[in-house]
Amino acid sequence: MTTPTFPSRLPNVGTTIFTVMSALAAEHKAVNLGQGFPDFACDPALVDAVTRAMQTGHNQYPPMVGVPALREAVASKIETLHVRRYCPNSEITITAGATQAILTAILACVQPGDEVIVLEPCYDSYVPNIELAGGVVVRVPLTPGSFRPDFARISAAITPRTRLIIANTPHNPSATVWTAEDMRALEELLAPTGILLISDEVYEHMVFDGAEHQSAARFPGLADRAFIVSSFGKTFHVTGWKIGTVAAPAPLTAEFRKVHQFNVFTVNTPMQYGLADYLGNPAPYLQLPAFYQAKRDLFRQGLEGSRLRLLPSTGSYFQCVDISAVSDLGEADFCQWLTREIGVAAIPLSAFYGDGFDQRVVRFCFAKKDETLREALTRLRRL
Ligand SMILES: Cc1ncc(COP(=O)(O)O)c(C=O)c1O
Repeated sequence: MTTPTFPSRLPNVGTTIFTVMSALAAEHKAVNLGQGFPDFACDPALVDAVTRAMQTGHNQYPPMVGVPALREAVASKIETLHVRRYCPNSEITITAGATQAILTAILACVQPGDEVIVLEPCYDSYVPNIELAGGVVVRVPLTPGSFRPDFARISAAITPRTRLIIANTPHNPSATVWTAEDMRALEELLAPTGILLISDEVYEHMVFDGAEHQSAARFPGLADRAFIVSSFGKTFHVTGWKIGTVAAPAPLTAEFRKVHQFNVFTVNTPMQYGLADYLGNPAPYLQLPAFYQAKRDLFRQGLEGSRLRLLPSTGSYFQCVDISAVSDLGEADFCQWLTREIGVAAIPLSAFYGDGFDQRVVRFCFAKKDETLREALTRLRRL
């Protein structure tokens, strides 16, 4: 018997650059600053809290929308940090990570033929998610060089068929952070429209130099139309746990949960109880900016003598560099060469653009032990 063939739902999707670069890094024993995940342990208190939850019997299906204690803890955290009060029962949902949250939000609101604006460079799941929903992807570039949002271009991309726009601050891969003025400009632009917003805020606790994260929750005209997506994996150094949240007004949450119910149904129970307990202490997330800023500074200072030109890194755990003084290679070839010859893996920014736009910039992840960063710097100083 032969396996039947069928048309692919995602004909343009192949192996991601992250998988390719991680495999190459392993093959060449390179320091992997490519894929965005920490190489250090999470707080043992968090593991203890989850262990306690398992030991006390929290091991069966939880409520579909998430355990009440965690939803309440999330609502309180948002209220404390951003003032808006979300109802834990009707406006907060626990998800299997931000990636699932984004797909579910898109499937919940995008109909075939609806247009969805993405700001490139962007996280790699957005575009295939929109395609799965039958939506039409409308790509608007962030301003090359600064990666600031260009509201004139965003405005020009809006049509009567625009259903949704996806924004991401702090931003992967550029490490830029939207200001309150940026958020207000988006609020003003969307005010006369019925366009929904996915606000991808997974790096919300990684904002540096005294700046504040400007959550969409702070701007009523945005919050009223937004699915705000967060990730415990990013915030608490447990990317493998795949657990996150969506905060959205009740009508949006109701539609979101219809899809969530038949997609994920429930998210693992002991981690929800453990996180609810752990969130009782705000110190771990309030200390995160200082923790990552120190790593950013260590990495930047180490590169200062090299010919890699450092771009600003004001948030997230990424540092982008311009490679044009070091090599004539394009970004992707440079990353392969860097991994093989210098022993450090990075990600080309072109991987975050639909058309592979190459601006000679690559991304490093500094969510690594200081010793890992020092080893990478020793190697990179050979450039
Ligand atoms: C911008 C952005 N959104 C979403 C995610 C996914 O988060 P999670 O691991 O919680 O699915 C990532 C992970 O790299 C990301 O960089």
